[in-house]
Amino acid sequence: MRYADITGWGKCTPPAILTNGDLSTFLETDDAWIVSRTGMKERRISHVPVSDLAHIACARALAAAGKTAAEVGLIIFGSCSFDQIVPNSASRVQQLLGADNAACMDLNTACTSGMYALSVATAMIRTGVVQSALVIGAEVTSSMMDWSNRDVAVLFGDGAAAFYLEGSEHKAGVVAESLGCFGKNRDILDVAGWGQKYANQGVILGETKWNFNGPEIFKRAVVGMSRACDNVLEKEGLAKEAIDLIVPHQANLRIIDALAKRMGASDEKVYINIQRYGNMSAATAPLALVEAIEEGRVAPGAKILMPAFGGGLTWSAHLLTWGSRTAPLGTSDIDLSPCDKTGLQLVLEIIAARQIKKG
Ligand code: ACO
Repeated sequence: MRYADITGWGKCTPPAILTNGDLSTFLETDDAWIVSRTGMKERRISHVPVSDLAHIACARALAAAGKTAAEVGLIIFGSCSFDQIVPNSASRVQQLLGADNAACMDLNTACTSGMYALSVATAMIRTGVVQSALVIGAEVTSSMMDWSNRDVAVLFGDGAAAFYLEGSEHKAGVVAESLGCFGKNRDILDVAGWGQKYANQGVILGETKWNFNGPEIFKRAVVGMSRACDNVLEKEGLAKEAIDLIVPHQANLRIIDALAKRMGASDEKVYINIQRYGNMSAATAPLALVEAIEEGRVAPGAKILMPAFGGGLTWSAHLLTWGSRTAPLGTSDIDLSPCDKTGLQLVLEIIAARQIKKG
């Protein structure tokens, strides 16, 4: 049996920080509400397009795997905030890396995009279509945010993570997964102005209005993720107690707590970084796994469960068996262009640019 081992990992977090206090300077909100209702304290705001973040994360993942760009057979870019639709964003990452032998595709399932991308790459390696892949989960929602809507503006942040996958005869990488979608409920997270749908109703691309029913998404997120977790455990014939670490999508600390309770998982078995980054959509779960590895929370052979959900409403859970190595083989000295602005300055610039556009 052939598997797709994850032998490289990397992240790219833009340096500009937007705190809860910063948000309260232009929204009717405060640190106490945001922390108690979501667990978030700060998030990152990107000064560069999403493909730049993805490029750095990929360069670091390649270095960690000890591979060159020429060895990459596939780049799959999970996101819903692509620089452009044509040409796709994976092709820009290929260009920046010089990964000339890679097939390139973009994939959008909203917040689960990075995890769905992991499934597609794993399947293509396991079936021999490609021998290796870079899987990206990256998002820059700040430029598509409705910064006048406190219901959503406080929840999201920007970031990127990437994994290098290669074929292996050892049982490693994704060993079971469950993917699905509550399409009947797709309208409870609908962003006007982020695509063509409302164009003939006078909605301008980028002028987003988030039709977002937080409490309803909350409930379906808990149900969808816990069912998906049960599915993968059953597929693999594993008991909940056999899981070493749960690395969930981080949309709300209370959602994570509800999920952990259903899974009977103690605090030390759940990896959480929502306080530092908020919800980075497609980047969230992949970046959480990268940080869990960096912090020594993943041991060789560890069984890792990664549930996620997103707009659509898509849901997923992946069961990973970690391979034999948790230390990177190398590092990359490549980095983002410097940023001399704060997160608040970057957000105020986005708001001002839209006002100029409106005239
Ligand atoms: N600051 C202060 N008050 C706020 C804020 C804010 N930022 N946002 C909402 N409120 C108010 C509301 O107006 C409401 O006031 P009211 O009682 O006077 O009407 C009150 O706080 C409670 O609002 P609820 O919506 O009931 O609060 P809830 O406890 O459900 O928390 C939240 C809202 C955080 C959005 C939660 O429902 C949630 O996390 N939902 C799912 C998260 C989510 O959808 N994430 C994106 C998923 S898709 C993806 O990941 C791409």
